[in-house]
Amino acid sequence: MLISKKSRTLQFITSIFHSIHSQITSHPRISLFIFSLSLVQLLIFCSPFPPPPAPVSLPSMADDRCEEGNVYVYKLPTMFNSDLVGTCEDLDPWHWQCGVATNGGYGTTATELAGIIPENLLQVWHRTNQFSSEIIFHNRILKHKCRTMEPESATVFYIPFYAGLAVGKYLFTDSTNDERDFHAVELIKWVQMQRYWQRSNGSDHVIVLGRITWDFRRLTDPEKRWGSTFLNMPEMQTVTRFTIERAPGDYHDIGIPYPTGFHPRSISDIRTWQNFIRTYNRTSLFTFVGAAREDVGDDIRGLLLQTCRNESVSGTCRVVDCAVTPCANGSSAIMESLLGSEFCLQPRGDSFTRRSVFDCMIAGAVPVLFWNRTMYDQYEWYLPEEPESYSVFIDHNDVSAGRKSIKGVLENYSKDVVKKMRERVIEIIPKIVYSDDESNNGGMKDAFDIAMDGVLRRFKAERDERRRESDGSKKTRWKI
Ligand SMILES: *[C@@H]1O[C@H](CO)[C@@H](O)[C@H](O)[C@H]1NC(C)=O
Ligand SMILES: *[C@@H]1O[C@H](CO)[C@@H](O)[C@H](O)[C@H]1NC(C)=O
Ligand SMILES: *[C@@H]1O[C@H](CO)[C@@H](O)[C@H](O)[C@H]1NC(C)=O
Ligand SMILES: *[C@@H]1O[C@H](CO)[C@@H](O)[C@H](O)[C@H]1NC(C)=O
Ligand SMILES: *[C@@H]1O[C@H](CO)[C@@H](O)[C@H](O)[C@H]1NC(C)=O
Ligand SMILES: *[C@@H]1O[C@H](CO)[C@@H](O)[C@H](O)[C@H]1NC(C)=O
Repeated sequence: MLISKKSRTLQFITSIFHSIHSQITSHPRISLFIFSLSLVQLLIFCSPFPPPPAPVSLPSMADDRCEEGNVYVYKLPTMFNSDLVGTCEDLDPWHWQCGVATNGGYGTTATELAGIIPENLLQVWHRTNQFSSEIIFHNRILKHKCRTMEPESATVFYIPFYAGLAVGKYLFTDSTNDERDFHAVELIKWVQMQRYWQRSNGSDHVIVLGRITWDFRRLTDPEKRWGSTFLNMPEMQTVTRFTIERAPGDYHDIGIPYPTGFHPRSISDIRTWQNFIRTYNRTSLFTFVGAAREDVGDDIRGLLLQTCRNESVSGTCRVVDCAVTPCANGSSAIMESLLGSEFCLQPRGDSFTRRSVFDCMIAGAVPVLFWNRTMYDQYEWYLPEEPESYSVFIDHNDVSAGRKSIKGVLENYSKDVVKKMRERVIEIIPKIVYSDDESNNGGMKDAFDIAMDGVLRRFKAERDERRRESDGSKKTRWKI
């Protein structure tokens, strides 16, 4: 009952995402933009001018290593964040459970993994919800070394609005547009009264969206009413947003890894885990964790599920059918399948991205992608440039048309090559985890650190660029 209702809703959602994508992609300005961006980088690199003077009033908490700037955290009325967590029982009924907002967004300890993972890492594996990055970032940013209490000395303004939680509670109900937009509208009213917003119109402001970007870009077609209209609002156009799935054409959307259950406390936790997955006895060639979408046309998930079922007889594939196993909050079955397999299949679902891609890599399995936008075009700040070094790409058209056999393609990789790919995956892990906020990770940058460094650097580059422009083009023109 529930499943078929869910499927209908998902089919609907999928059709909406297709419509939104086609509105946003193939933007002619993008390549020009990338070009001018590299030009900016070139100019920064070649600049003969001394660095700008340090701000006069030194930040009270931020330390002197914050050469690229400091971040100020707004204190928002609680209706925009903590109140939304408190009423968790009316949030998205399928993916969100009460209690997951505990532990700074990391959730409760995943005791069901006892006996599967090393004993001394049981404490760092949690039942983390995939939509919890709003809470995780907020919690981490409050303790960031470059946080300043003085807005005057800030270069990045973080708005701790839980936009995904705010809309999540209306997504699967028959709610009105006004209800879906209520928090977003109020938030815009609130920020517009802030002096530092007025100074920049939001262009030095950043927000974290715990859900995919399409959940905030409602279409005008009443038949395709989904999500809020937060990112369509004119005020939001200059605000930088971290999100688990970005709109490829939008410079202000920055893809961040989905939160997984692994939250290492130290570099030693990471090393222990890396050694564990490196030497794990993987007895299956591949695995598929997911549910079929039988009523969605060209259902590649259903096809992969069936392929995997067929191959599971010989032990070649391990299948975890999420229509049977509850997959949303992690489980021991998923962990065992990922650990026990060389590769994991990662088709698109309702949208292009999946948390499972990250679960897979953290378990040391090599991801197999069918759409570039599931990963390569999403998380540029996190992944190496050569996709073939850490993943396998099989075009979804080749699979649907029966031109390529998954097993055939994967069997073709020698043990040595797979081992090399796994080493690449293992190297990536520290960058895609959200480590414990008290962690002493020996200077290793986790997903949160990379996001913060990146936005501080990006805003600095933009400031430098504006400064050069206002200095007059005379001085810089000869360099081009
Ligand atoms: C901000 O936007 C308003 C309204 O569009 C405009 O009048 C103002 O000049 C802008 N301010 C800055 C600093 O860009
Ligand atoms: C890996 O597992 C297989 C199947 O259970 C077993 O035959 C093999 O001996 C194991 N290899 C190692 C190195 O433990
Ligand atoms: C799975 O096996 C059944 C029975 O042999 C076969 O009819 C079906 O085509 C196979 N499906 C896939 C996707 O390989
Ligand atoms: C996951 O969520 C389901 C549904 O809420 C619940 O029945 C199950 O016990 C949860 N599993 C774990 C490991 O928390
Ligand atoms: C997708 O990625 C693969 C592997 O990097 C590449 O060969 C292919 O050209 C890409 N396809 C599209 C449509 O971008
Ligand atoms: C296996 O690899 C060979 C050599 O690289 C290639 O020619 C062949 O097409 C591959 N087979 C499959 C099924 O991908």
